[in-house]
Amino acid sequence: MIKDIIIAIDGHSGCGKSTTSKLVAEHFKYNYLDSGAMYRSVALYLLRKNINYLEIEKIREEINNIKIEFKYVDGIQNTFLNDENVEDEIRRENISKVVSKYSSIPLIRKHLVSLQKELGKRKQIVVEGRDITTVVFPDAEIKIFMTAEIETRAKRRFEDIKFNNPDVTFSDVLLNLKERDDKDTSRSDSPLRIAEGSEIIDTTHLEIDEQVKKITDLIEKRFS
Ligand code: DC
Repeated sequence: MIKDIIIAIDGHSGCGKSTTSKLVAEHFKYNYLDSGAMYRSVALYLLRKNINYLEIEKIREEINNIKIEFKYVDGIQNTFLNDENVEDEIRRENISKVVSKYSSIPLIRKHLVSLQKELGKRKQIVVEGRDITTVVFPDAEIKIFMTAEIETRAKRRFEDIKFNNPDVTFSDVLLNLKERDDKDTSRSDSPLRIAEGSEIIDTTHLEIDEQVKKITDLIEKRFS
């Protein structure tokens, strides 16, 4: 048992952040918040309404109509957008391609950051994303930055998605990751960066269970 803390995890796309964060949450019997799923849900909602990322006034009108919740289905946490299970749809490549355009919009970020802060109030939570250690929970008891070499990340992602996306090539995935890295690190509002006091975990040569153990050992040592 550890005391009640917030475990904040940021890092690049495709370094095993979500899988690791989920397993760390399971290990400590903590809640898990996938903030990327929230940005993906907003992108899906706006795409369905044909509202592009430049139509700021339309986005402002719609933002409060977007309800995002997480519920367990057969023991697995799923994302619900206005009561519809969108877990599969938000993971598709068409969303991956556009989500960083929407996630760079300050009014969307402000809205989601305040929801995330609310969800973290009671602690006992692992929160994962790009600005969790810097903006959402800069005072989290433990801050972790995960990364890996881009070729390794692209290879892993390609293996994950090729079955459901037979038309996608390795170079598409690599290009998409590069673009997302660029957008995530260069946007003016809350760019991805390493927060002061973060522990850096490079997963290039690690298996998932090794990266989970690294993080859980670190936390147990500090907070038991
Ligand atoms: O982690 P992910 O790939 O599901 O994230 C989807 C997109 O949302 C990605 O382009 C980065 C963005 N994002 C963000 O800007 N801030 C967060 N806290 C989480 C995700």
